[in-house]
Amino acid sequence: MSRFTLPRDIYHGKGALEALKTFEGKRAIICTGGGSMKRGGFLQKVEEYLKEAGMETELFEGIEPDPSVETVMKGAEAMQKFQPDWIVAIGGGSPIDAAKAMWIKYEYPDTTFEDMCKVFGLPKLRTKAKFCAISSTSGTATEVTAFSIITDYQKGIKFPIADFEITPDVAIVDPELAHTMPKKLVAHTGMDAMTHAVEAYVSTANCDYTDPLAIHAIEMIQKNLVKSYNEDMDARDAMHNAQCLAGMAFSNALLGIVHSMAHKTGAAFADLGAHIIHGAANAMYLPKVVAFNAKDETAKKRYGVIADYMHLGGKDDDEKVELLIDYLRKMNDSLNIPHSINHYGPDGLPAEQGFVPENVFLERLHDIAANAILDACTGSNPRQPSQEEMEKLLKCCYYDTEVDF
Ligand SMILES: NC(=O)c1ccc[n+]([C@@H]2O[C@H](COP(=O)([O-])OP(=O)(O)OC[C@H]3O[C@@H](n4cnc5c(N)ncnc54)[C@H](O)[C@@H]3O)[C@@H](O)[C@H]2O)c1
Ligand SMILES: [Zn+2]
Repeated sequence: MSRFTLPRDIYHGKGALEALKTFEGKRAIICTGGGSMKRGGFLQKVEEYLKEAGMETELFEGIEPDPSVETVMKGAEAMQKFQPDWIVAIGGGSPIDAAKAMWIKYEYPDTTFEDMCKVFGLPKLRTKAKFCAISSTSGTATEVTAFSIITDYQKGIKFPIADFEITPDVAIVDPELAHTMPKKLVAHTGMDAMTHAVEAYVSTANCDYTDPLAIHAIEMIQKNLVKSYNEDMDARDAMHNAQCLAGMAFSNALLGIVHSMAHKTGAAFADLGAHIIHGAANAMYLPKVVAFNAKDETAKKRYGVIADYMHLGGKDDDEKVELLIDYLRKMNDSLNIPHSINHYGPDGLPAEQGFVPENVFLERLHDIAANAILDACTGSNPRQPSQEEMEKLLKCCYYDTEVDF
């Protein structure tokens, strides 16, 4: 038996934010990040609409990018005090993910972070509050997914919480929120969405329900991402929908080792003063993983189908895989994303000298590879890597060398 779960309501299109006026409840806590939603005037609108719906509101602000376990615990405490019956999270993937984890702790105060990380092991939520997610970036699709990514900075590891219980009740996908994104954010989140769609399509958990969503998302991202990066606002609008479709696909078909590697490298060098931003990590690793997975016949055929939908040409599946890899690398060039960790600058832009020195990378390689294998996303990857293969793959991602194993 398989399960396909999405939010009960997805409001989309310009002005979708106004759906908040129709919510029923007494108290709504609004969770958000560092200030971009306030600067854009969206936070004020959320407060206004909820008040119009007759609700008392409280703000939990300042959720940092790649949110920590500590922030989750603080937010849950604020919820305990305020006792909301709606949790409304607005912003990028970070504040929405943090709010999802806060929700678990609010409903079950004795739950530890370790408990939350047991895959598909959450107790029933919605005994206290319902959850609405309003995305302002066009990438993570966390507004429709069963996932939340929280970073344990003591361990330097990002942990995915995965359970359909945390699939929001309502998603609001209003493209106006994405208009204020700076170019770099468009690039990174857009390639995150592309990775979601490609990984969902070749995942071992793919099915007839997820395939059309993944393929259509890929076509839309191919058509619109670079244009959106170059400030075409119609393309920006289309990307906001495309990333959401990709999310509907991967929330149910799951992901693969591009994400396992991104999760385990993301914070592994935080002590050197920089993260490898999630979307940028995916963008660098995706072409390598396509080459690795294509050694599996079923995956190779599926990459061939993707290449066909993208009209890349190629006389057989081997050629189609090559053309797909080339295309993805060219997208990275158009979006000013580096190809490998050794050229990943502290600001996420290509740099002659990246921020991760070779000796540090090699010292940590064994543990990163072991952790990536254990990541929740590895199980649905079409090819299961050994420790040795994962280390080799990560080396290819560091040096930008060819994957021939
Ligand atoms: N839950 C999931 O299914 C899922 C999937 C993929 C990634 N993630 C996680 O999501 C996080 C990344 O989320 P993200 O890429 O959306 O970025 P983010 O939420 O970390 O935000 C990045 C920066 O962009 C700013 N910002 C957000 N929206 C803006 C806008 N419209 N205009 C101007 N600035 C804006 C934020 O203030 C922040 O400084 C990572 O922790 C990643 O691991 C989660
Ligand atoms: Zn992602």
